[in-house]
Amino acid sequence: KRKVIIDCDPGIDDSIAIMMAAMSEELDILGITVCSGNVPAVQGAKNAIKALAKCKRTDIPVYLGEEIPLERELVTAQDTHGDDGIGDSGYPDIDGVEYRTDAVGFITETLRNEENVSIIALAPLTNIAKAIMKDREAFDRIDEFITMGGAFKSNGNCSPVAEFNYWVDPHAADFVYKNMPVTIHMVGLDVTREIVLTPNRLELMKRLGNNEMYRYIRDITAFYTEFHWNQEGIIGCVINDPLAIGYFIDRSLCSGEKYFVEIETDGKAMGMSIVDEADFYKKSKNAIVLTDVDSRKTMDMIMNKLFPGRTE
Ligand code: BDR
Ligand code: CA
Repeated sequence: KRKVIIDCDPGIDDSIAIMMAAMSEELDILGITVCSGNVPAVQGAKNAIKALAKCKRTDIPVYLGEEIPLERELVTAQDTHGDDGIGDSGYPDIDGVEYRTDAVGFITETLRNEENVSIIALAPLTNIAKAIMKDREAFDRIDEFITMGGAFKSNGNCSPVAEFNYWVDPHAADFVYKNMPVTIHMVGLDVTREIVLTPNRLELMKRLGNNEMYRYIRDITAFYTEFHWNQEGIIGCVINDPLAIGYFIDRSLCSGEKYFVEIETDGKAMGMSIVDEADFYKKSKNAIVLTDVDSRKTMDMIMNKLFPGRTE
């Protein structure tokens, strides 16, 4: 099993990613850290616990992290994810399971105390940037770092050029790209946009396991699906974050190239991931930018993890 910390902002697609990861036997999830993004961090931490409860994994600790971006004011995505971050589905908090505090301390301590820990970040990079600022040397011990964020050939989703996670905290994102000692795996919109949870897949989930987890996924995605229809004319909803988990488990899901990447921190292009494809700067390449994805294989994997023992 590979040891991981999942950093997130649940969030509808984060919730599905958490459940998928918690059900994956390849992963040993040491903790889930939360920062503000889709919703304020406290709400996100409660939602992380709800997702864990649905797959009976409340043994995994949840840590509350940074509540505001490094420099910008917080802008959430409650228009997309609902006021409660789970599509206004109204699921109550889980009694008897509390989140812990100091996500940043948890990240640095864990990197120091455990061997071969990887981080999969599904949120603005505020917690990760703060953790590097706190203890840069701890990050010399990190195994791999995967981030869902950015957009290369693809359009942004917050502006023509910026993806949400990097747009919410561009200073954190840029800091992480400049200071992460290992190669960053950028799972951006180029690949995640292809991962669509369709009504057919939901129906299949119902047939494979009409259980609490299925009903939760159905209920939290209903609002998100409406949003996609109204905004983009898509049937179903794009689930970005589970792809980062899938790619961590199976590299054959995505492919791309290694480039120098930095993040624009202000102005009209704030949050843009600037990918130096032509090697204009001649700077050392810091990120593998994923541009191709096997979406069918990814959706099959998500289904298999969530509803094991399936035969199609
Ligand atoms: C990212 O932003 C959030 O809305 C999603 O949870 C995902 O992490 C996509 O841009
Ligand atoms: Ca997210």
